[in-house]
Amino acid sequence: MESPFEVLGITPDADDGEIVDAYRERVKEAHPDQGGSASEFQAVKTAYERLQNGYEPGDPLPDETPEPEPESPPEPDDPMVEFLNFEVLEDHGWALEDEDLFEKAAEAGLRSADFGRFYVDPNDTLLEAAEKNGFAWPFACRGGACTNCAVAVVEGEMPSPASHILPPELTEKGIRLSCIAAPISDDAKIVYNLKHLPEVSELLLPASRFEQASSTD
Ligand code: FES
Repeated sequence: MESPFEVLGITPDADDGEIVDAYRERVKEAHPDQGGSASEFQAVKTAYERLQNGYEPGDPLPDETPEPEPESPPEPDDPMVEFLNFEVLEDHGWALEDEDLFEKAAEAGLRSADFGRFYVDPNDTLLEAAEKNGFAWPFACRGGACTNCAVAVVEGEMPSPASHILPPELTEKGIRLSCIAAPISDDAKIVYNLKHLPEVSELLLPASRFEQASSTD
């Protein structure tokens, strides 16, 4: 059986940043929608989780027999998110309120980082799900305090936990924090990178105040 390092194509002395970079690259290549397979996709996710849980070179690996490959994409019962980068709206002169926003996005030939879809594991926040699917969405505190991870829920349900920094006037507009929330409806349409929206940007705490921040300024 390949070690987690071999699965991610890195050496055992790779640092945390190299592991995350390798994971984001491999998980995209392995996704069934991108020419990979469900078993390959799962192997990459498992390798990354083992490294996150402290796997060291030489640690024993469980004797695993690969499951037969399913015919459909993995976890089809999980909520499916269709996402769009807020910066794209600015570039095209679109608005969050546009009823055909996602239809226009689907026809605009956007980059896969700006428009696409992924499934959300019920145990993950939306931000974690994006990262597991290889997307580098902005964040800083990962605790509902800084608004760097704000998204707009254009369609679908994504309850907001009780404790966070967003005022009611923003939550009533469907603004949520992806680090502490996740969709519960089968499908959801989400605009991410909302920190550039003026009402959100005035609440921002600078990403530089937090370790491991990811910013797409
Ligand atoms: S990362 Fe700070 S509120 Fe989500």
